[in-house]
Amino acid sequence: MKKLIIINGPNLNLLGKREPNIYGSLSFIEFLEEVKRKYTDIEIDYFQSNIEGEIIDKLHEVGFNFDGIILNAAAYTHTSVGIGDAVKAIETPVVEVHISNTFNREEFRHQSFISPNAKGVILGFGLQSYELAIQSFN
Ligand code: DQA
Repeated sequence: MKKLIIINGPNLNLLGKREPNIYGSLSFIEFLEEVKRKYTDIEIDYFQSNIEGEIIDKLHEVGFNFDGIILNAAAYTHTSVGIGDAVKAIETPVVEVHISNTFNREEFRHQSFISPNAKGVILGFGLQSYELAIQSFN
């Protein structure tokens, strides 16, 4: 059975409550339950942290034994050399995901330290971006 993990960065624990006009009104846990029901042939783990170092530690932990990582580093995408380097250092392919289309938002969101080392990038499809990322590992 394929083993994937979704790693969410800062403020994504507030999905459903946070700026619903941009990020929607479904909580991530509700969404994840739906997705798990749909993809019973894939093991999908989940980790969320608001702390940069914890995200790096998790990438190290799963980055040599999982089949795929779906990473929404949220605001750290645009600032974290450390998370970018961790993505480069590990062996498991990383698909970078964003809920919103970061390219039609503020200019500081156009920069990503993840993209150069990601297998691919999916953004702008709402929570469906995560599902498309799961499908990309099939
Ligand atoms: C985000 C986009 C980032 O710019 C922002 O900081 C987030 C969420 C997204 O999924 O659209 O927190 O990664």
